[in-house]
Amino acid sequence: MGQILSNLWRKICPKPKNEALKSDNHKANYQKLSHNDENQRQSHCINISDHHDVQLISGCSSPNETIESHENNLDHSNNSNIVVDLSSGYEEHAKKKKTFKEQLLKDHVDQVIPEAVLVKNVTTTISHVVSSVKKIGQYNSAQRILLVGEGDFSFSACLAVAFGTATNITATSLNSEDFLIKNYGKFISNKVELVTRGSTVLHDVDAMKMAKHPLVGSLVFDRIIYNFPHSGKFGKDDDDIRTHKKLVRGFIRNAKKMINEDGEIHITSKSNGIYLKWDIPKIGVDQGLNLIQEIKFKASKYPGYHTKYGFGGDKDFDCNPSKTYKFALSSKSNV
Ligand SMILES: C[S@@+](CC[C@H](N)C(=O)[O-])C[C@H]1O[C@@H](n2cnc3c(N)ncnc32)[C@H](O)[C@@H]1O
Repeated sequence: MGQILSNLWRKICPKPKNEALKSDNHKANYQKLSHNDENQRQSHCINISDHHDVQLISGCSSPNETIESHENNLDHSNNSNIVVDLSSGYEEHAKKKKTFKEQLLKDHVDQVIPEAVLVKNVTTTISHVVSSVKKIGQYNSAQRILLVGEGDFSFSACLAVAFGTATNITATSLNSEDFLIKNYGKFISNKVELVTRGSTVLHDVDAMKMAKHPLVGSLVFDRIIYNFPHSGKFGKDDDDIRTHKKLVRGFIRNAKKMINEDGEIHITSKSNGIYLKWDIPKIGVDQGLNLIQEIKFKASKYPGYHTKYGFGGDKDFDCNPSKTYKFALSSKSNV
């Protein structure tokens, strides 16, 4: 036991090789840790497991909590881990080392980390990651999102602004860039919002063929969104309705090849009058999808969003009342 503890202690608290180490802001203690991102920067604990190998674990919420916590929590329970804070100063560390070692010897305990400490640390890390996910309306920055049939790109720009960094967004239009510049006063500024946040913006993308598109066709998304699909036929006869239904069907047929297994296809459409004849839920179900939810759509939840007719002119159309139909490959219980 004495030998094991002594080896263990040598691993935990190596002696400083020279004076510089004492005053070098503990850099030497960090050398095993990579600091590539915010989460890793917060990681400064090691876990001494049963066989006394040193492994990195993350999520200690405060640099000073660890040893103190462990000393305070010394007991005879069967805890299986020791967490050691490597960021404390050497002298302070040496003092703690002495008392801690004495305590260990006294209590004949080889491993003393209350599980609660580890749980707390892991929880801290998880909540840090979760709190960095940005949300707006039905969407969040952790989802890979494809937008199809955009008008002036105000919807996708609204998501991008809400997310801050928006590399998760791919926004597309059927219309060419020339058409968009000529027709929509805010298209350029919306595109700038997207591109500067790292989003991908593509034009001439046909929703009915997109699974074969050279750039987006091979990608997989968590959400594929088409707001207010419309074929450009403004009449009310059956032929016109058929063209809209054909567009929706073609979009779904392609989108379902491009979502991951938990992904969702969202179609927002007017929910009154002639639009009900499109019967979007049935189109999705006929394509083998599950209608997992239909919810009222409120454009006001998306600041800056302007609903465009899409076939010339910068006028907004009244999108009330409307609904978002959410489809998935399998029936989900979490909606
Ligand atoms: C009523 S507008 C809605 C535009 C935009 N989504 C919005 O919410 O403001 C319909 C849009 O569908 C697009 N569209 C029509 N056929 C399409 C197709 N085959 N593939 C992709 N988009 C298409 C049009 O270019 C037009 O922008």
